[in-house]
Amino acid sequence: MTRSTRLALLPAAVAALTLVLAACGSSSDNTTSGSGDSTATGVSLVEDGTLTVCSNPPYEPFEYDDPSSGEIVGLDIDIMQQAADDLGVKLAVKVTPFETIQSGVDLNTGSCDVVASGITITDERKAKFDFSDPYFDADQGLLVPAGSALSDVDSLAGKSVGVQQATTGEAWAQDNGLQTVQFEDLGLQVQALKTGQVDAVVNDIAVLGPFVADGFEVAATFPTGEQYGFGVKQGSTALLDAINGTLDRIRTDGTYDEIYTARIGTAPTQG
Ligand code: ARG
Repeated sequence: MTRSTRLALLPAAVAALTLVLAACGSSSDNTTSGSGDSTATGVSLVEDGTLTVCSNPPYEPFEYDDPSSGEIVGLDIDIMQQAADDLGVKLAVKVTPFETIQSGVDLNTGSCDVVASGITITDERKAKFDFSDPYFDADQGLLVPAGSALSDVDSLAGKSVGVQQATTGEAWAQDNGLQTVQFEDLGLQVQALKTGQVDAVVNDIAVLGPFVADGFEVAATFPTGEQYGFGVKQGSTALLDAINGTLDRIRTDGTYDEIYTARIGTAPTQG
């Protein structure tokens, strides 16, 4: 605890390393406590001793493939690792389509205990599964080839806009009368922009930054005031309480700030 408090004060570049160290600490903690059952907390899990999380990469910096480890990593995964640690169980990440994540199907078919996938809390989704407290603020953004003249809703008239299936970005583009082409994930969306199949891409602003290095430009932010939450099956109160407990703890002890800074690159603006 002292160590993580001290590390929270270190600069961003070092924060990434501290996460790796923290993760090492966590996994050795798991070795000692991981065999313990989670029933002590009243939480039942689809696979005993494991918190199984459904997620839809590529969605850097929230969930994406780390080529050096072959693992899915990111802000969502870091927070889920904290939740697994608090439950005294291991973490397993399952890749599923965003459609079945956001519809509640993954949760209802027992594919996973939690959906952690940069999911915006919406009333429609709240009717299908239960959300944790919000953990991240989001808006929509526009990705275009560098130097493109497309920079606002008006300029997109008559253009073809790539969207991710079943996302709030898709809904936003349609609400704004844009001509959309649907893709199953962000990787395919950006691929289509690369090949010229679409003129622009709309998705959450925080995931567009990593593509600037590839000759793209984030040309606009569309403020939507979204908030991300983790989802559990309706009525999984013990698990939901545990996740909210973890969110409270990591906000209080500095872990959330460490994770945020390491993954987003700046300190969080909210407390
Ligand atoms: N926040 C948006 C939504 O909830 C997009 C999330 C997409 N997430 C992902 N991992 N592909 O609709």
